[in-house]
Amino acid sequence: MAAHCKISSVFRANLFKDKVAIVTGGGTGIGKAITQELLFLGCKVMIASRKLDRLSESAKVLQSQISNKNAQLDHMQCNIRQEDQVKDLISTTVSRFGRLDFLVNNGGGQFPSPASDIKLKGWNAVIETNLTGTFLCCREAHNQWMAEHGGVIVNIIADMWKGFPMMSHTGAARAAVDNLTKSLAIEWASHGVRINSVAPGSSIYSETAAANYGSPEIFNRSIPGIPAKRLGTVEEISAAVCFLLSPAASFISGETLKVDAGASLYSTMWEIPDHNRIPAYKWETDNVDSNNDNDNGSKSKL
Ligand SMILES: NC(=O)c1ccc[n+]([C@@H]2O[C@H](COP(=O)([O-])OP(=O)(O)OC[C@H]3O[C@@H](n4cnc5c(N)ncnc54)[C@H](OP(=O)(O)O)[C@@H]3O)[C@@H](O)[C@H]2O)c1
Repeated sequence: MAAHCKISSVFRANLFKDKVAIVTGGGTGIGKAITQELLFLGCKVMIASRKLDRLSESAKVLQSQISNKNAQLDHMQCNIRQEDQVKDLISTTVSRFGRLDFLVNNGGGQFPSPASDIKLKGWNAVIETNLTGTFLCCREAHNQWMAEHGGVIVNIIADMWKGFPMMSHTGAARAAVDNLTKSLAIEWASHGVRINSVAPGSSIYSETAAANYGSPEIFNRSIPGIPAKRLGTVEEISAAVCFLLSPAASFISGETLKVDAGASLYSTMWEIPDHNRIPAYKWETDNVDSNNDNDNGSKSKL
């Protein structure tokens, strides 16, 4: 998004006045849109990710776009895989802005690969980023602030409802976060913490998301499988996140909201070639030995 772009929201301008949010990965793509909307709604926002140069550049642009006098922005380097850096992100945010109301676990990443080719290092990296990093951010936000004062957490996951061929590592990690969301919703309810997830379809276009996969074409190829017959926008994910953070969602916790125009119900991009490698099981051919055993009065194999 260019510096001059018009930021807007379906929510009223000061909805998040006096609120403080952390958005991981808040300098690019979906996270940047969430940050823009939170700032538009009067929130104070800390954005954090690994690449400080790009984050600082983005923070400059975001700063120049602020139109709400109650909004404030800061940024800091943080690799969510590093426990000490996550602890520092939460404590720095609380000391910079005086509180922490919202945590948006958006930072994440993966690489396409058949499962059989994924090396342990790559597997661990994706699990540590998308599952462990999310867990660490949740735990520290809870332990350092929300356990005493309450708060709202939104985790960005993915469309992994039918498995995630070619992305099995992130599919496993995101399914785990879906489950983590439910556990924490119960464990932390009495502390005033609500926690939900948003599962974008694999089709939310942004320049950085396209660069991650080498070309925008990958996104366009998914359009036939999307009931809306178009890609999703970063604004559509941001609106869902802001809804879940807002009092409009005060009775929603432990839930995952799919924002995919129904794509997860409709189709899969994965084509299985014709084959006969999974033969049918039939009594007449498969259990000859055990049938004979039974005829002789002996026990079945099971
Ligand atoms: N676009 C889609 O269609 C889509 C669909 C489903 C789910 N998602 C998920 O939505 C989230 C945002 O994706 P996006 O499409 O906006 O892509 P993106 O622009 O590449 O955003 C990923 C962000 O995560 C940050 N990040 C990655 N690893 C990190 C780490 N270890 N610690 C801290 N920050 C880290 C990156 O910043 P640094 O490189 O500076 O760390 C970057 O800002 C990701 O979790 C993505 O997997 C996207």
